[in-house]
Amino acid sequence: MAEFLIDLKRTHDCGALRAADAGKRVVLFGWVAARRDHGGCVFIDLRDRAGTTQVVFEPGTDEKAHRGASELRREFCVAISGLVTERGGHKNPNMPTGDIEVKADDLTVFSTSETPPFDFGDDTKSDEAIRLKHRYLDLRRPGLQKNFIRRSIVYQTTRRYLSDNGFLEIETPFMVKYTPGGARNFLVPSRLNPGQFYALAESPQIFKQLFMVAGMDRYFQIVRCFRDEDLRLDRQPEFTQIDLEMSFVVEEDVQGIMEGLMVALWKDVLGVEVPRPFLRLPYAEAIGKYGSDKPDLRFDLPLCDLTELVVRHDGGGVGLLQAAVKAPGGVVKGWRLPAAQAKSLSRADLDKLEEFAKGFGARGLARARIGEGGIWTQSPMKTITDDLRRAINDAAGLGDGDLLFLQFGAKKLVNAVLGGLRLHLAAKNDLIPKNQWRFCWITEFPLFEANDEGQLVSAHHPFTSPHADDLERLESDPASVRARAYDLVLNGNEIAGGSIRIHRSDVQARVFRALGLSDEDARAKFGFLLEAFKFGPPPHGGIAAGVDRLSMLLCGADSLRDVIAFPKTQKGTDLLTDAPGPVSRRQLDELHIALKE
Ligand code: AMO
Repeated sequence: MAEFLIDLKRTHDCGALRAADAGKRVVLFGWVAARRDHGGCVFIDLRDRAGTTQVVFEPGTDEKAHRGASELRREFCVAISGLVTERGGHKNPNMPTGDIEVKADDLTVFSTSETPPFDFGDDTKSDEAIRLKHRYLDLRRPGLQKNFIRRSIVYQTTRRYLSDNGFLEIETPFMVKYTPGGARNFLVPSRLNPGQFYALAESPQIFKQLFMVAGMDRYFQIVRCFRDEDLRLDRQPEFTQIDLEMSFVVEEDVQGIMEGLMVALWKDVLGVEVPRPFLRLPYAEAIGKYGSDKPDLRFDLPLCDLTELVVRHDGGGVGLLQAAVKAPGGVVKGWRLPAAQAKSLSRADLDKLEEFAKGFGARGLARARIGEGGIWTQSPMKTITDDLRRAINDAAGLGDGDLLFLQFGAKKLVNAVLGGLRLHLAAKNDLIPKNQWRFCWITEFPLFEANDEGQLVSAHHPFTSPHADDLERLESDPASVRARAYDLVLNGNEIAGGSIRIHRSDVQARVFRALGLSDEDARAKFGFLLEAFKFGPPPHGGIAAGVDRLSMLLCGADSLRDVIAFPKTQKGTDLLTDAPGPVSRRQLDELHIALKE
């Protein structure tokens, strides 16, 4: 008798058969997605990665197969063979294979299954923790499988596009020397070198620059990176970058390559033509208009800077405004919600928004509803002068029924609150169009930023080149120096970041000095790179894109967890394997490590 796998090879996948296949004998393998008994006939939906096909076992066709079919249960793994027949009156237009069914006359159960702990519908409401614990079952869900099929195209297209453009794929080590700055590293103890640690590479940054010194010219890698950060929906402790570096280039060259890659990805994965070139938006403008360096440009509704107006009116009779602009670095900004959306917001809703603002660390959220003739109602700023009120109405374009939200104080906080509010209320009010891809480059980032202790640190990394026009202010006014750095932003997500690097040792030394690093410190920390740069480094620059974030957007997913096969939870744990876990005393001894009680 013919045996499945040996004599009976798979002829089709479960998504392939159409009306034109009627009359063919086929062999399908897959999982039982559902079973229905209808007065003697047993129907099963047979599912594999490609789709689902209805299979019917009739009592008269093959007695053994029919008997076996009654014993099938969900998620049994089976083989069937039979004849493709058109369904006649019972076609299912919602299924690609809905015109046909397979009348089976042979069945083998490869393996049975316990009842799965959750259902596999794509709208599954099952607890994510249970799904992550049984991730291999979660991954059987057609929606997740579709995500991984798309993600796989991302890899193929990337490799093809970059190698067509002259890039060499070269690997770099994961276990590297710890270098300070940047994200917090995971550390790996060295058994062979007591008391010494490797760091897991947060990115191949230094190595790819060394490739340029080595004359590799154009390098890329699809590479895992490791960062011990606090996790969010768009951040995982291990994630994947499309990392590249190019010699003899300026910003436009690197951006051009990345734009071409995005166009290729959107075409191959979604069949969508993305127009080029992408918009360029200087950092200062992005922050000014949208309160964010990753603005969602699918809708406009910009913030409005009212600082100068408030200064001119000396606070306009509002003590808090007057104090805000007198404080060093204090700003006043406003954001308008149009009347059409504002009218659905009750006083109670506005109070809730105040809590939203406090979540960013704000003390409150000043607001006003614009009434007839531009008067302000529902506003805590009752003492405001008519002059300032009118001036603000004009500047912010406020009309009858609009809502004005005001925030004043330190620039960073004001932008975070209003930028956050802009996104929050736009999403809530369906102001963000679907199926739009608004790519933009954020350019002219500051070279330095202040950390929580007020020290100057690199905004990107210390090898980022300063803007030539700002070089003379590197010592006198470092905070005003712009970097030759750029981020690629899509629909409010940072999907790539890079820069033109410093290749001149005198400029590098000045940047280190501005960062408060002595020559000795710099040598201790980055000695190998500085040493390499003594040997004819070419001008170079590069960029890295986040594959997980790209895939998330290409799949329309809300979380990176939907495009990473075995993701970590918010607490960095893997619920499937229970990592991280304790190790034995002996293992620790071998590593020369003692745990603190
Ligand atoms: P950067 O740190 O900006 O640049 O990272 C590049 C891109 O990687 C993605 N990304 C992440 N994705 C998921 N989880 C994370 N924790 C995470 N962190 C970053 C983002 C980001 O835009 N060496 C430089 C690149 C260069 O200068 O060439 C770098 O790593 O999409």
